[in-house]
Amino acid sequence: MENIELLDQKIKDSKLGGGEKRIASQHKKGKLTARERIHFLLDKGSFEEIGALVEHRSTNFGLDKQKFLGDGVVTGYGTIGGRLVYVFSQDFTVLGGSLAESHAQKICKIMDLAMENGAPVIGLNDSGGARIQEGVVSLAGYADIFYRNTLSSGVIPQLSAIMGPCAGGAVYSPALTDFILMVENTSYMFVTGPNVVKTVTNEEVTSEELGGASTHATKSGVTHFACENEIDAIDHLKKLMTYIPQNCEEKPPVLPYEVGRDETREALDSIVPDNANLPYDIKDVITNVVDEESFLEVHKDYAENLVVGFARLAGRSIGIVANQPAVLAGVLDVECSKKGARFVRFCDSFNIPLLVFEDVPGFLPGTDQEWNAIITNGAKLLYAFSEATVPRITVITRKAYGGAYDVMNSKHIGADMNYAWPSAEIAVMGAKGAAEIIFKKEIKEAANPEEKWKEKEAEYAELFANPYNAAARGYVDEVIKPHQTREKLIRAFKMLENKAKTLPKKKHGNIPL
Ligand code: COA
Repeated sequence: MENIELLDQKIKDSKLGGGEKRIASQHKKGKLTARERIHFLLDKGSFEEIGALVEHRSTNFGLDKQKFLGDGVVTGYGTIGGRLVYVFSQDFTVLGGSLAESHAQKICKIMDLAMENGAPVIGLNDSGGARIQEGVVSLAGYADIFYRNTLSSGVIPQLSAIMGPCAGGAVYSPALTDFILMVENTSYMFVTGPNVVKTVTNEEVTSEELGGASTHATKSGVTHFACENEIDAIDHLKKLMTYIPQNCEEKPPVLPYEVGRDETREALDSIVPDNANLPYDIKDVITNVVDEESFLEVHKDYAENLVVGFARLAGRSIGIVANQPAVLAGVLDVECSKKGARFVRFCDSFNIPLLVFEDVPGFLPGTDQEWNAIITNGAKLLYAFSEATVPRITVITRKAYGGAYDVMNSKHIGADMNYAWPSAEIAVMGAKGAAEIIFKKEIKEAANPEEKWKEKEAEYAELFANPYNAAARGYVDEVIKPHQTREKLIRAFKMLENKAKTLPKKKHGNIPL
């Protein structure tokens, strides 16, 4: 009986983390505790904790008198929507959630289990970083995690939610995972904090400005989602999980879908304006094509000239990459190429078919772009599409100009089905610019150069400002009316569902980084 009482006492102590006072202070900051987060994340009653009685072994700087069962991280497994996931949740109430030897070993243990059992790992980060008192073993602990993050990459999905501080070397574990979610106002990520920044560069900046959720969601693209509060972040994690499989050998979950419904979407016929220079919102196209309320945009406020996100088509998970004519006319630039490439590679790693909506006038010109390596960065997107072996379909809604036409999942780089709407213009460039270059002499020498230019522009437009030249060569498989798009895509993805394509044998490719 005494034995049982001792166990009960230990479990109770472990559940209290750093104690009532620190839990109250966590709540006062508008934050949940490590255990509360797990409670909201996992299916009710599904959590099984591993290592609740682990303690650190350090005696430095009075640590021998500061032992907390669990050592500042709650680890274990449970289910989300009935599917197995492994979770670690850092407990800020215990030594600031700082990471050292035992804390790291607990995380590594569940990462190893996740790899061996082919299930995702979700990390809930809230930590003051390396436990200063434990010195180099803390750094070793981080490296042990980074190494596992890297080996797990592309094998099991890894998701990171940042729910408090995440600074210094600690940032690199989330950075190596597939998706980062941050909470507005209560989380931040940076390699060096405001004090060091002030000393080294003399810049005055707050933690929020330097590395808060909005900063990383808009300026750096480090976070894929900026969430209003912790519950919103947890809801995003759960939603994200519904689109992705357990591991690289499985397919994503399919929701039941009643076949034989009317799939025509008349609204699609009137989205693209008659005037090719006018913008429209590609998200109107996306939401009219995919299953109702199924679109989950990723990197919503970053590099908005390219839209990426998950959706469902007849219950099946797909990844969408779409030029956005409403922002910078939908050009490809450095930032959006990186954003797109990363998303394409995630989808390809985890067997999520890709759907591309194309309306691209080309690459963004300028010294800023060239000096920031649009050549290398544009190549990332090209590379990512080219090596993707999942089913891939493109719908050209309007412009498909120049090299950007090749990049945007063209038939030539391995797309399976390419559709074009009658409004498509597949050409080296727009008719006006093209006429100016190839008929330069004639225009200059004409009695009325303006008239001549217009005439030549019309000539070029007639030949190329349409999808029929590309269709004649089979670069476009079918020209379809916009309202048919959803039905065509449902059928084509079904036709491609058993696609089995492998890349040439290699150690790994060398994507331009
Ligand atoms: N190692 C050991 N203990 C740490 C720690 C770390 N890296 N980070 C925080 N703690 C402890 C604090 O000493 C404090 O302990 P106490 O409650 O016994 O006084 C507790 O965690 C809470 O930290 P506190 O500073 O009171 O919280 P805060 O919300 O005001 O600030 C930080 C949070 C993260 C900004 C601040 O704790 C900090 O700067 N930590 C050090 C960050 C760092 O340099 N890490 C090492 C490099 S990776």
